[in-house]
Amino acid sequence: MLVKAVELLLTAEIFNKYDALSEDDIPKEIRKILYSNGGIKRPLVIKESTVRNYAGYNEKELKKLPFVDVNAFNKQIKLTSFEIAARWMAKNGIEFIKRNPVLAYYFENYDSLNISYEDARKHIQPKHSDAEWLKGVIEELSRDEATAEMLSLVRIFSPEEIDDDVSDVVLEDYQVKEIRKIEIAMEEREWLRNVGLKEIGKLLFIGPPGTGKTTTARSLSKKLFLPLVEVKLSMITSQFLGETSKNIEKVFEIAKRLSPCILFIDEFDYVAKTRTSDEHAAVKRAVNTLLKSIDEINLVEDGVLLIAATNHPSLLDAAVWRRFDKIVEFPEPSESVRKRIFEISLSKIPGDYDIGRLVRETDGFTGSEVKLIVREAVLSALLEGRKNLTMDDLLKAVEDVKERLKLKNSY
Ligand SMILES: Nc1ncnc2c1ncn2[C@@H]1O[C@H](COP(=O)(O)OP(=O)(O)OP(=O)(O)O)[C@@H](O)[C@H]1O
Ligand SMILES: [Mg+2]
Repeated sequence: MLVKAVELLLTAEIFNKYDALSEDDIPKEIRKILYSNGGIKRPLVIKESTVRNYAGYNEKELKKLPFVDVNAFNKQIKLTSFEIAARWMAKNGIEFIKRNPVLAYYFENYDSLNISYEDARKHIQPKHSDAEWLKGVIEELSRDEATAEMLSLVRIFSPEEIDDDVSDVVLEDYQVKEIRKIEIAMEEREWLRNVGLKEIGKLLFIGPPGTGKTTTARSLSKKLFLPLVEVKLSMITSQFLGETSKNIEKVFEIAKRLSPCILFIDEFDYVAKTRTSDEHAAVKRAVNTLLKSIDEINLVEDGVLLIAATNHPSLLDAAVWRRFDKIVEFPEPSESVRKRIFEISLSKIPGDYDIGRLVRETDGFTGSEVKLIVREAVLSALLEGRKNLTMDDLLKAVEDVKERLKLKNSY
């Protein structure tokens, strides 16, 4: 598409011209292509292959434009007259200008086009939401031995890779409200810094297994377009003296390097729990390191949203507890929450069922167990060659899961 080719060329030129523009102003689709061509550094150089990837490449058509030059030797494509190209774009590509902040920046005061840079910015997501960007940063970190080791301690997800949607997690109003506050804090980071409120952005999720803690953290990453750095404390605890403390420091360091991001620390009680073991001094040191690391990181200055999760809040001591500005409870789901989870899980499955009854039969079940019921029922139906569910399938699955729970509780 010719207009996209010109968009690309103009985007590069304008970006090169104005230092005020950042990577975040370049639309995602263009950014992705530039990353795979070696990154975004001024001056941006556009080659035949870049145009081909973004706009499809038709040399004949492109050469018809009086303001484009294709260099036969190095395959670079340039604008011979920026002014004429800009005029052409204003005439033929107004829709592209509106959605491209780099172009909007230039065209904001152009004739009577009525373009707003602010509006264009609303259309695009920041660079740290790109899987390609994250891949680049990780590659860079893995080239250095010290940081490569840090990477081995954590799992890193790009928001683009996360399946868990906020709308798939059923939460109580008070949970939604707490999470909404964090979203707003994220948006208002600058302002919060200016008014001196830095101690914001440390959440502790508490509740039994399978109540949606991990899923909520992941869905937040997707919703806020922030990479997720996930670590289980049991995985970085070592029997070697001092090793655990070092690992904790490295995990926080990596989060700062990937900022803005979410640092999700799972099994948060693990370090506190091991305090009863023999190596008392080493464990104490690990706890202290953890406390210090939490103190030294914050959303407003470092761009790191800290979320810790535990099934055993009673094991955490007061010093740990006090460091979180929000405690979000994930209890066993209420009737209305179970009802929504059933509705969502069954929404695409043909069949005839009484959700009210299922809700009554599943008192004390977690969200994860409710989903398990649906999976079990579907598998049983498939085993009998059916793709539609009956109430019978579901009630049998409820019994199966109840058996499982009994078994679990007997050990
Ligand atoms: N409130 C909920 N709404 C929708 N799905 C839920 C809910 N609670 C749990 N689930 C589902 O149950 C499964 C397990 O949830 P998740 O891993 O988030 O639990 P968790 O609280 O992190 O458990 P654990 O403490 O064992 O780590 C996921 O598939 C998730 O989608
Ligand atoms: Mg979890």
